[in-house]
Amino acid sequence: MRTQVAIIGGGPSGLMLSQLLMRAGIDTVVLERQSRDYVLGRIRAGVLEQGCVDLLRRAGCGDRMDREGMVHEGTNLSTVNGMFRVDFKARVGATVMVYGQTEVTQDLYAAQDVLGATIIHQARDVALHDLTGDAPHVTWEKDGRSHRLDCDYIAGCDGFHGISRQSIPAESRTEYERVYPFGWLGVLSRTAPATEELIYANHPRGFALASMRNPQLSRYYIQVPLSDKVEDWSDAAFWDELRRRLPAEVAEVMETGPSVEKSVAPLRSFVTEPMRWGRLFLVGDAAHIVPPTGAKGLNLAASDVHYLFEALQAACAGDAAALDLYSDRALRRIWGAMRFSWWMTSMLHRFPGQSDFDQKIQEAELYQLETLETAQAAMARNYTGLPY
Ligand code: APR
Ligand code: PHB
Repeated sequence: MRTQVAIIGGGPSGLMLSQLLMRAGIDTVVLERQSRDYVLGRIRAGVLEQGCVDLLRRAGCGDRMDREGMVHEGTNLSTVNGMFRVDFKARVGATVMVYGQTEVTQDLYAAQDVLGATIIHQARDVALHDLTGDAPHVTWEKDGRSHRLDCDYIAGCDGFHGISRQSIPAESRTEYERVYPFGWLGVLSRTAPATEELIYANHPRGFALASMRNPQLSRYYIQVPLSDKVEDWSDAAFWDELRRRLPAEVAEVMETGPSVEKSVAPLRSFVTEPMRWGRLFLVGDAAHIVPPTGAKGLNLAASDVHYLFEALQAACAGDAAALDLYSDRALRRIWGAMRFSWWMTSMLHRFPGQSDFDQKIQEAELYQLETLETAQAAMARNYTGLPY
C-alpha cells in the first residue's frame, strides 16, 4: 500500500489534517488504534478559538458548528468578593465558539466519509521506519495480519500516549513538563447551563468551572485531590460541592440532575522539542499537553494542523524547504498557549501548602483583571486565540 501522507491517530488532529490534505488533492491514510465508537465516546473541552473555527470551515466541516455552536463574547470570573465579566468583544473584537470536541470529531468523520477517506481502525502495534531517509514506511497488525504502508511523510497525530513521539530518539528530544498537584472532576448533565457564559471560579475550597455544550447540556468541573476517584463522588456530593464554590446567586438557581458522564483528569503542561524528526512531524497532543484551564488543547492541535498543512502542501508542490519552518512556527504559538494555561491554572486553583502570601497574590491578580482594561485585553487576546 502507498500514500503521500501517512497519518497516525484518528483524533481531531489526524482527521482535520487528512481532511485538509485530501481537499487539496493530497493522498492520505489514517491509522487509528481504537474503534470509531471509542474515539467518539471521549468527552473533552468545548471552546473553539476563531482560528480553529476558520480551519474547520476551510476543511468543509463547519456547517453544523455554525448552526448549533454558541458564540460567546465574554466569560465570567468569580472570587470570594463576587463575580465579574471579561468582555472579549469589547476588549479585542474577538469571540469564541462553544461547540464540543466530540461534535467536532463527529463532523470530521462524516466529512471524511464523504471524501471516501481511508481510515483504518483497530490498527495494532503501529511502528514507524526509515524516518530520516527519503522513503519512510509504517507497519501495523490487524486481524492477525501484518501490513505495510509506504509514504512520503508521516504525521504523528496519536496523542500523548502514542508511539510517534517515542519514535524520535530520546537524545534528539528535549521535554519540558510541569505536573500540577490536583485534578479536575468533571460532570456532564442534561440540564440547562447555569449562566449564558462560562464561570471560572477561584474559591477557598478549590477551583470550579461552569461550562456547557448546548442549551440542554451542561459541563461542570471542580478541583479535587489527585487521590480522589470518581467512585468517591456521588452526584449529590458533586452538586453540593459545586454549589459551595460558585457565586451564591448562581448556585441558588442552578439546575441539577443525574450525571451523564463523570471523570477525573490530571492537569499537566508538557512540550517536546523539536516537532520534526526527518520525515516525521508531530501534531497536537503527541507533542504537547496543556492543563484544561483556558481550553487550549484542541485549539493548539488546530494551529499545528494549519502550519503542517501549509508546509506539506508546499512540499508536495516541490518546495520541501517549507517543512523546515514547521516546528519553530508551531512551537512559537504553543509556548504562548502554555504560558496562558499555566497562568490561568496558577491564578484560579488552590495549591497544597499555598501560603497566605500566595493567596494574596492570587487575589491581587484577579483584582487587576477585574479593574484594568489592559489586563482584560491581554486575557481576552489569549483566550480568544493568539494569531496564527
Ligand atoms: N497507533 C494508532 N493510533 C493511536 C496510537 C497508536 N499507537 N496511540 C494513540 N492513537 C490514537 C488514539 O486512539 C486517539 O484516537 O491517536 C488519537 C489521538 O487523539 P487525541 O488524543 O484526541 O489527540 P489529538 O488528535 O492531537 O487531539 C487534540 O485536543 O482537547 C484536546 O487533549 C485534547 O484530544 C485532544 C486534543
Ligand atoms: C469544557 O466545556 O469542557 C471546558 C470549557 C472551558 C475550559 C475547560 C473545559 O477551560
